[in-house]
Amino acid sequence: MTEVVTTVEGLRVALRRRRHGGSVGLVPTMGALHAGHAALIRRARAEMETVVVSVFVNPTQFGPAEDFATYPRDLPGDCAEAEANGADLVFAPSVAEVYPAPDSVRVAVGGLARRLEGAARPGHFDGVATVVTKLFGAVGCDVAYFGEKDYQQLRLVVQLVRELFLPVEIRAVPIVREPDGLALSSRNRRLSPAARCVAPGLYRALCVGRAEVEGGERDPTRVASAIAASLPRTTEEVPVEVDYAVCVDPETLETPPEVTGPVRLLVAARVGGIRLIDNLAASPPEAA
Ligand code: PAF
Repeated sequence: MTEVVTTVEGLRVALRRRRHGGSVGLVPTMGALHAGHAALIRRARAEMETVVVSVFVNPTQFGPAEDFATYPRDLPGDCAEAEANGADLVFAPSVAEVYPAPDSVRVAVGGLARRLEGAARPGHFDGVATVVTKLFGAVGCDVAYFGEKDYQQLRLVVQLVRELFLPVEIRAVPIVREPDGLALSSRNRRLSPAARCVAPGLYRALCVGRAEVEGGERDPTRVASAIAASLPRTTEEVPVEVDYAVCVDPETLETPPEVTGPVRLLVAARVGGIRLIDNLAASPPEAA
């Protein structure tokens, strides 16, 4: 039976009771759990002795005009999903628990956190880095599991752990997709039926980019243009606003001078007013 705790103290007591020196895995989430999260929890279950799922909609990673207030929240559903996939503990703290007054500490991140999502959502990755550091501290986990869906976040957390010498290993879990290619995301449930039909176009455009790379295109800007040209267009019913389409180094997320090894293709677009992101790995023929 999955135990639900809402305070750091309660979490520590529960972990002390269970741990007995075994490994602890953390799956950090903002709730609204779906099959993508389930894959993370199941992987943690297979590899760790104790599995903690955190459910916390983190206010500091949302901009003032973003969807913090309307972000889907369903703690009973999340607890049922966590339990069904083998979690031992759900840590569901309040905002006051995670950011106790005087709330004076923030983690500030630069480098790759300034580009792409970081440029589109100023302060977002500082909020992610802050809450992830707090969660790692609260749980004292050995391993934390992150989905490749939020690829830039994954790279940022790897960098955070490396640069702050945090004693946590980060393990990446592949994207889970709908049969039509749409990457699973908590925000998908806010797509209108018409926008839901358009949304898999992001994945199809990424596949066009991958075919370019696999076909030997070495110019990353041409690959990016091929992706951009393949993205869905605005219709009367569904407005589409593209934020970026890029072909970048998989670690630094910088555009390489030439595609000579593995790259990551990333897109972000608002489809019917809902911001979606997706990404795909690609390798040129000589590296495949
Ligand atoms: O990916 C998410 O759901 C969030 O950004 C995370 C890592 C749980 C931090 O709030």
